[in-house]
Amino acid sequence: MIRTENITKTFGSNEVLKGITTEFYAGKPNLIIGSSGAGKTVLLKLLIGLFTPTSGKVFYGDTDLYALNPKELRVIRMKVGMLFQGNALFDSMTVGENIRFPMDMFTKMTAQEKRKRVDECLEMVNMEGINDRFPSEVSGGMQKRVGIARAMVLEPEYLFCDEPNSGLDPQTSILIDELICDLTNRNNITTVINTHDMNSVMGIGDNIILLKNGLIAWHGNKSQVLESDNQVLEDFIFASPFLRRLRADALKQRSNG
Ligand SMILES: Nc1ncnc2c1ncn2[C@@H]1O[C@H](COP(=O)(O)OP(=O)(O)OP(=O)(O)O)[C@@H](O)[C@H]1O
Ligand SMILES: [Mg+2]
Repeated sequence: MIRTENITKTFGSNEVLKGITTEFYAGKPNLIIGSSGAGKTVLLKLLIGLFTPTSGKVFYGDTDLYALNPKELRVIRMKVGMLFQGNALFDSMTVGENIRFPMDMFTKMTAQEKRKRVDECLEMVNMEGINDRFPSEVSGGMQKRVGIARAMVLEPEYLFCDEPNSGLDPQTSILIDELICDLTNRNNITTVINTHDMNSVMGIGDNIILLKNGLIAWHGNKSQVLESDNQVLEDFIFASPFLRRLRADALKQRSNG
């Protein structure tokens, strides 16, 4: 479980986050949603310790992330898997080398142990046998899977995914969501996902926060989305006329039933 306590982040005169207090639970995907520029990536980076908050705290369980010394921070980092916005695969490395990289950085595993783990992780994302290909030689969806394999290689307790579906068609997006969800449930990972993909919200949104103007404008889960009368949520989610109609029907059915 990860908990934030009144996190703020200011860049110059730009107050991006003005006080975020929330919890992200283990074993389920936790979603951060909001328009472009709302501060989703900034919040994710604060959760991982890539930015320092202007004020406020981040707790991993009972551990205060920003009170740790570099050595203790490294221990936490080993438990963290990351899937960055874009893929952030190393273009000059093969798929196998990309997945091996965190093991090279953080472990003293032998070459044979690493090879075995790379194969396990590729199998986990249904991509076995593509070890020797370069990222440019596989499709966008496959690159995401490789990114997930790399994020999973050290058996993380915490997984952070920044827009894992960006640039994918809707069907592939759903498969990627299901894969992340499945790994999260099976391994009891605390997974935090940034997204503005409505299929993700309605498909895997077990715990959702909506950011707007530096604050949490709405908090709930996918089944509460259709019934909420929160104006910010409505403007964000039901931007399309089709979704507005769907929601009107759901509300009507509810009042009839
Ligand atoms: N390193 C930085 N220095 C200064 N300002 C930054 C920095 N990183 C982000 N910002 C500012 O923080 C705000 C939020 O950016 P952020 O990248 O978190 O948005 P986002 O919600 O992830 O958007 P998107 O959906 O487009 O990815 C923006 O105004 C951005 O300019
Ligand atoms: Mg972003």
